[in-house]
Amino acid sequence: AVELNPVLQPLSWLLGTWESDEPGEGTFPSIKPFRYTEKLHFSHVGQPVINFMFNAFHAESNKPLHRECGFIRIQQGTNRVAFIIAQNSGLVEIEEGELTSNQLKLQTQSLGRISFAKEPHVQQISRVFQLRPDGKLEQTVSMATDNHPLTQHLHIIYSRSSG
Ligand code: HEM
Repeated sequence: AVELNPVLQPLSWLLGTWESDEPGEGTFPSIKPFRYTEKLHFSHVGQPVINFMFNAFHAESNKPLHRECGFIRIQQGTNRVAFIIAQNSGLVEIEEGELTSNQLKLQTQSLGRISFAKEPHVQQISRVFQLRPDGKLEQTVSMATDNHPLTQHLHIIYSRSSG
């Protein structure tokens, strides 16, 4: 195995594979509430960068839905973290924020989308990753669209999985 770049030590708790044990809850004022499952993979190749893939599925049909992948960087010697994200919906995003012990809070710093992205357009995303005392990982995502201010869209809890 490649040795972890020491710059990543503060984020090493993210590394590995995570899978929702209970389906997550999706909500937004303009949509019907839904349930989904999701697998997260965080890996590294020795660079001061984490590579990630998030793959979500419909809880009942198992049909692939939302997918995101990208890179995570931390500014050396600080608690400043950046996510560089591509989403299958045609959105690309930089999210930045801060790491405080086992919590990572991020929000959109810049956002781009394909010319034919579905409406309503997302205008802002904020999310929190929390490593809980029981060893589970929790993610909460809020978004603002053309039609609604920042409101929760996703909440899900993952357990470590073997792959
Ligand atoms: C709906 C954005 C992650 C499932 C939506 C809508 C937007 C959006 C803009 C339309 C809201 C409206 O019509 O007013 C995002 C963003 C995500 C994300 C920015 C990540 C940061 C996910 C994930 C799932 C998911 C992980 C899991 C399956 C859905 C579903 C709908 C929806 C089922 C309703 C039906 C539809 O419009 O396709 N999302 N979403 N989303 N999202 Fe997400």
